[in-house]
Amino acid sequence: MATVVDGYCISEGSNKETNHYVVSIRGSGLRYKPGDSLGFYPTNDSELVKQTIRKLGFSRKTIIKTKNVAETTLEEALLHRFTIHRSGKKFFAAVVTKMKNGKEKENLSGILDDREKVDKYLFTRDCIDILNENPVHFEPQEFIDLLSPITPRLYSISSSPKVHPGEVHLTIAIVKYNNFDRDRFGLATGHLVNMVEMNKTKIPIYIQPTKEFIIPKQSSKDIIMVGPGTGIAPFRAFIEHRKATGSTGKNWLFFGEVHEASTFFYKEEWSNYMKEEHLDKLTTAFSRDQENKIYVQHRLLSNGKEIWKWLKNGAYFYVCGDKQYMAKDVHSALIEIAHKHGKMELADADIYINQTLMKEEHRYLRDVY
Ligand SMILES: Cc1cc2nc3c(=O)[nH]c(=O)nc-3n(C[C@H](O)[C@H](O)[C@H](O)COP(=O)(O)OP(=O)(O)OC[C@H]3O[C@@H](n4cnc5c(N)ncnc54)[C@H](O)[C@@H]3O)c2cc1C
Ligand SMILES: NC(=O)c1ccc[n+]([C@@H]2O[C@H](COP(=O)([O-])OP(=O)(O)OC[C@H]3O[C@@H](n4cnc5c(N)ncnc54)[C@H](OP(=O)(O)O)[C@@H]3O)[C@@H](O)[C@H]2O)c1
Repeated sequence: MATVVDGYCISEGSNKETNHYVVSIRGSGLRYKPGDSLGFYPTNDSELVKQTIRKLGFSRKTIIKTKNVAETTLEEALLHRFTIHRSGKKFFAAVVTKMKNGKEKENLSGILDDREKVDKYLFTRDCIDILNENPVHFEPQEFIDLLSPITPRLYSISSSPKVHPGEVHLTIAIVKYNNFDRDRFGLATGHLVNMVEMNKTKIPIYIQPTKEFIIPKQSSKDIIMVGPGTGIAPFRAFIEHRKATGSTGKNWLFFGEVHEASTFFYKEEWSNYMKEEHLDKLTTAFSRDQENKIYVQHRLLSNGKEIWKWLKNGAYFYVCGDKQYMAKDVHSALIEIAHKHGKMELADADIYINQTLMKEEHRYLRDVY
C-alpha cells in the first residue's frame, strides 16, 4: 500500500487533463529501475457503487460469494473486485435473455449477434445505463457472477530512483467523458482524480519490471527517444538517470502533443537539460498549433539523415505511447529512413528495422499501449 504525496496538472489551459503524480514507496522494500512500470489496483467510485446497488434494488450488506473470497458484502465486492463503470457482454446478454419477447428484445438480440455493433453499444454504457433502458430483475449473486474482475492498470514510471529515492513519479492522462448526461471517468484515472487525498489515501501498487525497455548498459551509447503525450514518461526517467550516473552518450528526445502553450510537459526540465548539455537534441511536434497536423513521425522523417547517422553509430531507438496509431506510423517512418538514407531497397529496409535493429541487436525498443 503506497501513499500519493503529490499530484498536479501539467496541461494547464488544455481541455485534456494530464497530471504528474508522486507516489511514496518509502519503507516498502519496493525497488525499480528506469523503464519499469507501476501497477495499480483501482477501486470503483463509491457513488457509482451506491447508484448501481440502488438501481438493482439490492441491500449493500447482502452477503455474496466470489471466486477468491468465500463471503463478502455486495458493497465490498462492487467497490474493490468487479468492473461496473462499463458493462461487459455477459451482463448485457443476461439482460436481453430476461427481457419480455417483443421488438426491443429482437433489436438488442440483433446487436448481440454482431461483434462490431455490440462493441459500439457497450462503449457508451455501464450496467445502470442498460438497466435504465431495459429494466429487468437480478438476484445479487446472479448479478455478481455476470461481472468481470477489476484488472490492475500499468503506468510507465517517469522518475529515476537515483534522483527521487523512495518515490515513483507518474505522468497520467485522465480519461473523462460524458454519456447519457452523466460524467464518466476511466476506472483508475477516476480513482486517482476523485478519490485520492494527498498524503492520506493508501493505494495498492506493485512494480512491473521490464527486461527489454532499459537504458543501454554501455553508458557511452547514444539514445533517440520518441515519446508523444504520456509516452514522455519513461524518457524523463531515462534522462534523470543518465545525468545522475554520468553517462557520456548523447540523448535526443522527440516529443509531441497538441499545443506548445498548454501541453509541453516538463518544458522547463528539458530546457535546463539542454543548457547543461544532458539533452543534446529536443525535437517537438505540436499537432494543433498550425492548420495541418504535425506528428513526431514527420519530424523523424525531416531529421532522417541525422537519425540514420546516429543509428549507424550504434544509437538505441526507443518509442513509448499510443500503440494503435503512433507506434505504427513511427515504425513506418523508421523503415522509410533506412530506405532513403541507408540506400536500401524497401524490403531490405524492412528487414533491417524489424529483424536486425529490433530482434538481433535489441536497439529498437518499445513500450506501447
Ligand atoms: C505498459 C503500459 C504503460 C502505460 N503507461 C501509461 C502512462 O504512463 N500514462 C498513462 O496515462 N497511461 C498509461 N497506460 C494506460 C493505462 O494503463 C490505462 O489504460 C489508462 O490510464 C486508462 O485507465 P482507466 O482505468 O482510467 O480507464 P478505463 O476504465 O480502462 O477506461 C479506458 C477506456 O475508456 C474508453 N473511453 C475513452 N473515452 C471514451 C468515451 N468518450 N466514451 C466511451 N469510452 C471512452 C476507452 O475505450 C478506453 O479503453 C499504460 C498502459 C500500459 C499497458
Ligand atoms: N488504454 C487506455 O485506456 C488508454 C488511456 C489513455 C491513453 N491511452 C493511450 O495512450 C495514448 C496516449 O495518450 P495521450 O493523451 O498521452 O496522448 P495522445 O492521445 O497519444 O496524443 C499525443 C499527441 O500525439 C498525436 N497523435 C495522434 N495520432 C498520432 C499518430 N498517428 N502519430 C503520431 N502522433 C499522433 C496527438 O495529436 P492529435 O490529437 O492532434 O491528433 C497529440 O499531439 C492514447 O492515444 C491512447 O492510445 C490509452
